[in-house]
Amino acid sequence: MTRATKPMSLTVNDRQVGPVAVPEGLMMQDFLHEYLNLTGARMGCGQGICHACTVVVEEEDGTLAEMRTCIVGAHWFEGRRVRTIEGIAERDTDGAVTDLSPVQQAFIEHFSFQCGYCTPGFVIGATVLLDRLQREPVSREDLEEVITEALDKHICRCTGYIRYLEAVRDVALKTPGLVTS
Ligand code: FES
Ligand code: FES
Repeated sequence: MTRATKPMSLTVNDRQVGPVAVPEGLMMQDFLHEYLNLTGARMGCGQGICHACTVVVEEEDGTLAEMRTCIVGAHWFEGRRVRTIEGIAERDTDGAVTDLSPVQQAFIEHFSFQCGYCTPGFVIGATVLLDRLQREPVSREDLEEVITEALDKHICRCTGYIRYLEAVRDVALKTPGLVTS
C-alpha cells in the first residue's frame, strides 16, 4: 500500500527546500536523512527521550528553539526555518567548513565527547541556550544550574556530561553579555 503524500516546503540551513511530496506521518528525522541526505541528527532512542536527534527551529521573532525530529512529523516543519547540525559551522561557497561555532570549538577543546554520537544534540541544545542567554542573561551564581537544566534532557551514553557542561560554561563566560556579575 502506498502512503498518501502531501507537499511541503521549508528552509533548511538557509536553503529553500520544496515543494516536495512527502508521505504523511513521515518523521522529520527520516525526511532529513532520506530526502536531504542530512544525517547529523542522530537516531538514538527514537522515542523522544535522548535528544540526539534535535534541530534548531528559527522562530519568526528571531529566537531559537530546539525540536526533536524522531517524534515530530516532517509536515510540522512546513514553512519554518530549520538549522541542522550541518548548518551550525560557517562554510564557504563550496560547502567546506571554515569556522566551527564557539560551542563546537569548546567541545573539542574540552574533550567533551568520546564516541560523539550524542554530540550533535548537545551542540544544538547549547546553541539554543546561548541564544537565550543573549536576551536573558543570568548571574554567574546561577549559570551552572541554568546550563544543567538546559542540557539535562540530553543523554550521553559515554557519560561525558561534566565536560560538556564545562565547555558551555566557558563559552557563556567568554561571550560578552550572557552572564551578569
Ligand atoms: S532519537 Fe529523538 S529523542 Fe532520542
Ligand atoms: S560521547 Fe558517546 S554517547 Fe555521548
